[in-house]
Amino acid sequence: MNVLVIGSINMDLVLSVKEIVKPGETTTSTSYTTNFGGKGSNQAVACRHLGADVSFIGSVGTDEFGDAIMENYDQLGIETSGILKEGQTGIAMIQVNEVGENSIVLVPGANHQVSKAEIDRHRSLIEACDVVLMQLEIPIETVEYGIDQAKALDKKVVLNPAPANELSREALRKVDLLTPNEIELAGLSGLPVHDLEHAEAAAKMLLDEGVGEVVVTLGRHGSLLVTKEESFYVEASDVNVGDTTGAGDAYNAALVTGLSDGLPIKQAMKLATRVAGYTVSVKGAQPELSSMTHFLKQVEND
Ligand code: RIB
Ligand code: NA
Repeated sequence: MNVLVIGSINMDLVLSVKEIVKPGETTTSTSYTTNFGGKGSNQAVACRHLGADVSFIGSVGTDEFGDAIMENYDQLGIETSGILKEGQTGIAMIQVNEVGENSIVLVPGANHQVSKAEIDRHRSLIEACDVVLMQLEIPIETVEYGIDQAKALDKKVVLNPAPANELSREALRKVDLLTPNEIELAGLSGLPVHDLEHAEAAAKMLLDEGVGEVVVTLGRHGSLLVTKEESFYVEASDVNVGDTTGAGDAYNAALVTGLSDGLPIKQAMKLATRVAGYTVSVKGAQPELSSMTHFLKQVEND
């Protein structure tokens, strides 16, 4: 199965801090690392680790970060013909506190260059894929156009509407599978989302607008599938939190890889829960993941 990610690529500059710094404060970081990141990139790499064929439409800079990212993709066997090299690689300045919570400042850099023209230029990648996976870390008009083009070619469209942003109703209703967290769901539906019942009501509203299916990710509170026919809840894995960065990305990647491998959605959610749990337990947003078979065995033992 072939997954095409149209999305962002960043280098994450991760500062481990006791507490996330507040305005006017100065704090000292206990350690500093440079990790591969960016929502699109995290999802692409996780799909690849799990065994999917992955291609990418995105952009990195002509700098050391960009070179390192491209080299990593080559090693992993991600198809990079759709990646533009120009300007400065996007970065995310991430503070991670002692309990694994984070706060992020994004500098989009080259991600701004992922325009509609890039999608036109790499139309053959859409033609060749089975599913298109997108997030909201590249220009929104590009995402909307990507949804449009993918649907015109009859491809399945999965949208992880992160980070929270606005999206046209026309684009939204063409999405086959939408995977918001609570905040993103509240933003898109205009309804409050404080608990499972709220989440279900808000997701149903989006279904009424034409979205195919909704999977709401609720962090340590698990995830919830809402379709026209039914709702289905999966508890989160019980793990020691190391670093929550990239947990949502891992969830999305595993969900999509599972589905494109023919798993029923409930099973794919359980797989995604396991993979996200593992990602939370280790540092960095692009941990090395075992094969899907490994995670599936764990799911069977649950
Ligand atoms: O979802 C996590 C990602 O968000 C990080 O890797 C960072 O790059 C930000 O884009
Ligand atoms: Na992590």
